[in-house]
Amino acid sequence: MRDDEYKEAGGTMQFVINGKLIEAEIDPRTSLLDLLRDHLGLPGTKKGCDQGACGACTVLVDGERILSCLALAVQCDGRSITTIEGLASDEKLHPLQQAFIEHDGFQCGYCTPGQICSAVGMAQEARRGVPSNVTHDLAAENIALSRDELRERMSGNLCRCGAYNGIIDAITEVYAEEVE
Ligand code: FES
Ligand code: FES
Repeated sequence: MRDDEYKEAGGTMQFVINGKLIEAEIDPRTSLLDLLRDHLGLPGTKKGCDQGACGACTVLVDGERILSCLALAVQCDGRSITTIEGLASDEKLHPLQQAFIEHDGFQCGYCTPGQICSAVGMAQEARRGVPSNVTHDLAAENIALSRDELRERMSGNLCRCGAYNGIIDAITEVYAEEVE
């Protein structure tokens, strides 16, 4: 297919992004990451590797964390997407954003939007009893987020600055007690 034919095949798609209904006419080969950054002007979601290895591009789709570099925008047509720009409300930071500041959970900050979106999705998974590789009780309805659980569950989000201790401290402050 020629490029213009691909564009026609894409047509208009609708998304709810950070609570706002957005319509976009895009080539169906566009990744969700490129839709957010290049078409919708939402640069908070970062492009690290662009191949599913670093987690910098993590966003929430209908509340589930996904790697937006590996998803096509067309797969998200009609769905609700939350990026780092949508987590704060009424000028108030999300509690996890605040905790990252208080616990020095970042240095350069490049991985931080992905870390935070991933942690929000991860906490939901633990609440629903989704086990990880280090979960002892696979039948538990609600899994306590120990540091080992957090390290394992956040292992898809790399931090080249090595701010891991602060990241785990921040997530522990906001989510660990909630599910214990
Ligand atoms: S940019 Fe998507 S995983 Fe690295
Ligand atoms: S804070 Fe720099 S990569 Fe994580």
